[in-house]
Amino acid sequence: MAIIRANRLSKYFQRGKVKALDNLTLSVERGRIFGLLGPNGAGKTTFVKILLGLLQPTSGEAFLFDIPVQLPRAREKVGFLPENHRFPLYLSGEDFLVFSAKLSGMRDSRKIHDHIESLLKRVRMWEWRRVKIKKYSKGMMQRLGLAQALISDPELIFLDEPTDGVDPIGRKEIRDLLLELKQCGKTIFLNSHLLSEVEAVCDEVVIINKGKVVLQGPVKTLTALDRRYRIHADFQNAGLLDAIRRKYDVLEAQPTYVSLTVSSVSQLNQIIDEIRRSGALIHAIVPERQSLEDRFIQAIQQDGKADFDQISLDRMQEEEQ
Ligand SMILES: Nc1ncnc2c1ncn2[C@@H]1O[C@H](COP(=O)(O)OP(=O)(O)OP(=O)(O)O)[C@@H](O)[C@H]1O
Ligand SMILES: [Mg+2]
Repeated sequence: MAIIRANRLSKYFQRGKVKALDNLTLSVERGRIFGLLGPNGAGKTTFVKILLGLLQPTSGEAFLFDIPVQLPRAREKVGFLPENHRFPLYLSGEDFLVFSAKLSGMRDSRKIHDHIESLLKRVRMWEWRRVKIKKYSKGMMQRLGLAQALISDPELIFLDEPTDGVDPIGRKEIRDLLLELKQCGKTIFLNSHLLSEVEAVCDEVVIINKGKVVLQGPVKTLTALDRRYRIHADFQNAGLLDAIRRKYDVLEAQPTYVSLTVSSVSQLNQIIDEIRRSGALIHAIVPERQSLEDRFIQAIQQDGKADFDQISLDRMQEEEQ
């Protein structure tokens, strides 16, 4: 079942001059870590705000757990860590979580205390529970924010830039926590500009630009390079390397590996046979990938070019009239 479903969702500001979302359709399945990516101003926060009932869409519809987002009950099983949050600095981490637990409807003090203890331990903030938030570092603030997002034991968790300002060790801990939550069957919707991180945790991503989807799919599919392989072997025999270079589409050749594009799997096997016949030892054959960041930049540039082409076309058509 799709936990999040948006159907032709649009949001215009300034009487239609700004199209923050433009006919956006997407869905997120249960138990996935889903990344929403896009350059500044692409419409990511607008999308999350509509799902959380903080903004009304201009047109289209959206559902959480198959319940229209206009109804508060759509958010009963939702946790949220906003971007640039402002927690009350005069409270301790523990007091803030007690406050959040009561806001989310918990009444039993014993249960609240036990739940908060396990959450604070989970995000490694137990020792700091009595210290005022104003003394927390950025990373501690984000860890407390995560505990707050998990307070109602939600099934769906929205995290807007959860690792913002967190050091590499803290980021790794947050990543591990997200994977742990996924193992427990939770669904996570992540907004992040840190593409290496998104690549490391997300199952699926959607890249949006100017309110429209430009690319979507599983991370593994988006980063795969079509029919490109790197063969690691002892190419000490210069004749062998030359022969491979002459016959095949070689992108890079070194004494320890070659990178090449093959026309088919049988051609790949043909090359492997050739290397083996020469007596060279093969250490590994690895399909080549590009980073999600490369794929992101490519998609946004292509989208920009399409826009530019359309503008030029419109201008030429206007001139011709
Ligand atoms: N309340 C508003 N009034 C007018 N325009 C708005 C409003 N909120 C957002 N916008 C515009 O809508 C567009 C999308 O903004 P949004 O904040 O959703 O982008 P974003 O993808 O979250 O960007 P960032 O990566 O910088 O957080 C931008 O052009 C923004 O200026
Ligand atoms: Mg934003």
